[in-house]
Amino acid sequence: MSLERTFAIIKPDAVSRNLQGEILSRIHKAGFQIIAMKSMRLTKEEAGGFYAVHRERPFFGELTDFMSSGKIFAMVLEADGAISKWRETMGATDPKKAAPGTIRRDLGSSIQMNCTHGSDAPETAAFEISYFFSSMELI
Ligand code: RTP
Ligand code: MG
Repeated sequence: MSLERTFAIIKPDAVSRNLQGEILSRIHKAGFQIIAMKSMRLTKEEAGGFYAVHRERPFFGELTDFMSSGKIFAMVLEADGAISKWRETMGATDPKKAAPGTIRRDLGSSIQMNCTHGSDAPETAAFEISYFFSSMELI
């Protein structure tokens, strides 16, 4: 497998419960390098642009309300096979269906409030990284 970058978010539910330290510890233990990281609060419009692929889904309004409801940490993570590795570290979307030991299973509270985001493919990773970070920040 080759060295790859993925985009991750610690979502507002996790930050409001002060879980960012626990999640960063899991990121380190899983062997990722943090290439970039910043905290911010998205507007509903910015959250909508980020999750534009879900525009037609019934949960889009709720999702963009949730993602703009508080502070997030946005990150670029690097590892061999980072995209699938981070999805495995997070676990399935629904915490009830996520494997034991994953972030979502251990810390998530619902299918929406599932603590973290991860890119699902190389093209989405490239789009999402550039949505949040400039090339000067990717060092
Ligand atoms: P993410 O994009 O955040 O990494 O999550 P994912 O790939 O595992 O799941 P996706 O289908 O892309 O859904 C994006 C986020 O929308 C919320 N969601 N709510 N109410 C619902 O049925 C529902 N389904 C999904 C979750 O916050 C999910 O992570
Ligand atoms: Mg997704």
